[in-house]
Amino acid sequence: MKITKICCIGAGYVGGPTMAVIAQNCPHIQVTVVDLNEQRIADWNDPNPENIPIYEPGLSEIVAEARGRNLFFSTNVDKAIDDAQMIFISVNTPTKTYGKGKGMAADLKYIELCARQIARVAKQNKIVVEKSTLPVRTAEAIKSILDNTGNGVQFQILSNPEFLAEGTAVADLLNPDRILIGGDTTLDGEEAINSLVDVYSNWVSKDRILTTNVWSSELSKLTANAFLAQRISSINAMSELCEKTGADINEVARAIGMDSRIGPKFLKASVGFGGSCFQKDILNLVYIAKSYGLNEVADYWEQVIIMNDHQKRRFSNKIVQTLYNTVADKKITFLGWAFKKDTNDTRESAAIYVADDLINEQAKISVFDPKVSKNKMLSDLDYLETRSREENVKSLNVFENAYEACKDAHAIAILTEWDEFTTYDWQKIYDSMHKPAFVFDGRNILNAKQLESIGFVYKGIGS
Ligand code: NAD
Ligand code: UGA
Repeated sequence: MKITKICCIGAGYVGGPTMAVIAQNCPHIQVTVVDLNEQRIADWNDPNPENIPIYEPGLSEIVAEARGRNLFFSTNVDKAIDDAQMIFISVNTPTKTYGKGKGMAADLKYIELCARQIARVAKQNKIVVEKSTLPVRTAEAIKSILDNTGNGVQFQILSNPEFLAEGTAVADLLNPDRILIGGDTTLDGEEAINSLVDVYSNWVSKDRILTTNVWSSELSKLTANAFLAQRISSINAMSELCEKTGADINEVARAIGMDSRIGPKFLKASVGFGGSCFQKDILNLVYIAKSYGLNEVADYWEQVIIMNDHQKRRFSNKIVQTLYNTVADKKITFLGWAFKKDTNDTRESAAIYVADDLINEQAKISVFDPKVSKNKMLSDLDYLETRSREENVKSLNVFENAYEACKDAHAIAILTEWDEFTTYDWQKIYDSMHKPAFVFDGRNILNAKQLESIGFVYKGIGS
């Protein structure tokens, strides 16, 4: 089928950028992104493309180019489903917070709602594409809902997981390592796969488009995230050993990364990985393994999360210990709150957990992040339900200016690796702080020697 109309359900961090890039590179395809969240759609339609709800380098320019031409954002989900030949499901699949699998399994209620809505609305054959990250064999459930509640039309289900990373979403989408498309091995399945291959071929070379069966595709996404997160937990585990032995984790990472079998990427020791997906997807993998009785497999992957929790806790403990075992009423300034640089996303950011620990110790936290609002930081803390909103408001001070945030601080903690932090006038910051002035560099981005020569007590990760 030659695709001319696409609908995407879910205008979030994946749906928005992915569809913007499809629309930019396929001017002959009309792309409509729909969402139940009216504010989110209004923000995507803001006349000033700088105000779109997701910050990603290069994204506002693409939206400016395609929006209104062949890229549309709407809350009319039924109409977009009805019009489209191909429907992407890109809704959230968070960890379940209730019932069976609570705290582990993926919550598929939003996926099921989409499937039921597609079944109800569709009057012609449709290709339904799983873009969300899903447990292996979810396509079976979607197919069953579509076939049993639909209007007798034919559905093909494809799995097309997204591998973009936030902060580099546009670059990743324009130049992906690979596009993965899983589908049925029947003739109809192959035809559906080819329709999606044709869409991507508008800008991705064919040798980078991989086709597999549906289950391999679904499981490859969970596997990729598990492997990536495992590398971070592995290097972070070594960072603790470095601190005890005089080895330096940056040197160790460089030394092992030059082995072409290991490779240099994703070996940066840190305060712990955050983001909406690594933890959620590994917990989901652990749950799936357990549900098949594969307890050793489950335990193996769970250790990646245990190590990451330990790394976050270790960082806050180190701050308390170094500040003479008390941070009560001390001003501790966080530079960065986002889970990584170049995004305004804070989901599962290590900063939230470190702040929570330090507030428990009665510290006063000041924060500067170039892209995250005060409200977002407060709602992140509220979400943990450790204390009341009033108490969080009292314990968290948010600044628009980094120098103001650092003034009169006892310690600075780097939680996000924003480039601008490395270019600050650290002498000026030092002069405005209580002495001894401590820097806890949770990202190893600052120049330790330079800071020590100014007079700072500098503590990086793994050295
Ligand atoms: P998100 O929360 O930013 O966006 C999901 C959107 O779906 C929300 O705006 C929500 O209102 C909307 N939605 C939910 N149910 C709906 C319904 N029934 N009808 C219409 N809209 C509905 O989530 P996200 O970060 O874009 O992630 C989406 C999926 O992609 C997840 O499965 C995630 O694991 C996966 N993923 C995310 C990333 C990432 O970098 N964030 C990368 C790869 C894969
Ligand atoms: C990750 C994957 O990289 C994407 O391929 C995947 O599509 C996505 O999850 C998803 O499924 O949601 P993302 O979470 O956006 O992308 O960002 P990453 O660059 O992977 O960083 C995740 C976390 O790990 C961040 O907190 C980052 O600071 C941390 N990190 C990353 C390290 O601590 N060290 C590293 O070497 C790399």
